[in-house]
Amino acid sequence: MARDSVWRTFLVAAVLCIVCSVLVSGAAVGLRPRQERNKALDRKKNILIAAGLYEPGADIEGLFAGVRSKLIDLATGKPVSPSEVDPASYDARQAARDPDQSVVIPPESDLAGIHRREKYAFVYLVEKQGQVEQYVLPIYGKGLWSTLYGFIAIDADANTIRGLTFYEHRETPGLGGEVDNPKWKELWPGKQLHDAQGQIQIEVLKGAVAPDSPAAIHQVDGISGATITCRGVSNLLRYWLGPDAFGPYLAQQSQHSTTR
Ligand SMILES: Cc1cc2nc3c(=O)[nH]c(=O)nc-3n(C[C@H](O)[C@H](O)[C@H](O)COP(=O)(O)O)c2cc1C
Repeated sequence: MARDSVWRTFLVAAVLCIVCSVLVSGAAVGLRPRQERNKALDRKKNILIAAGLYEPGADIEGLFAGVRSKLIDLATGKPVSPSEVDPASYDARQAARDPDQSVVIPPESDLAGIHRREKYAFVYLVEKQGQVEQYVLPIYGKGLWSTLYGFIAIDADANTIRGLTFYEHRETPGLGGEVDNPKWKELWPGKQLHDAQGQIQIEVLKGAVAPDSPAAIHQVDGISGATITCRGVSNLLRYWLGPDAFGPYLAQQSQHSTTR
């Protein structure tokens, strides 16, 4: 074959494509276990951040040793048996997309704007000497541009917030993206989810909370220029902590805490 023939050019290009695709797919497959490990580590880090236990540079696995994860059935609030669903391989995000592992949310209850949700969810119990100190729950829902994914940490009374963090979203930096601002996140600890009748009341206001209002214990200052993202945060919290998601589980924990 002549050195500068058309066929030779195609042959060189084809061989180059095959070599490159083998290299890229080999790297993707070879690095997958490391990616999975990093994803799991990042999840643990964010759970610790919500619970106020994360220290930069600290050993995440060591800090996470005091956290126990439990897979629960959201409809009943009861633990799911490992023979029914293997917690080691359960992926809640994948489950939420699988019609067999999720439920459709009727539009009138779909406060979080997610259309369907997984049947089973992880709860993370922060324990000290065998006693639960905090419950950390995964939460997600629509903001303005994106779905926000985060964790909320709740005290053993199943009512008082200990921390809130969002680890993934595509809201505008400086506007909706301020949900990541540590100053805004500092406003959450101590706020209460429910009123005396057990109704969920937590909300982000448009503007500032009136400190002497009786409702202030359930309210957080809004982020200026980000009312839509803030409304999304209120709505996703009300959905996930309400009767259609973690509500049954939280009600059972608050009964334990009042009978202890
Ligand atoms: C480029 C651009 C990006 C915006 N990003 C956000 C956002 O991430 N979150 C949000 O709530 N509002 C965002 N807004 C503003 C909304 O359109 C809306 O005006 C705002 O939520 C109203 O909040 P305010 O009543 O506090 O001004 C953005 C507006 C523009 C022009």
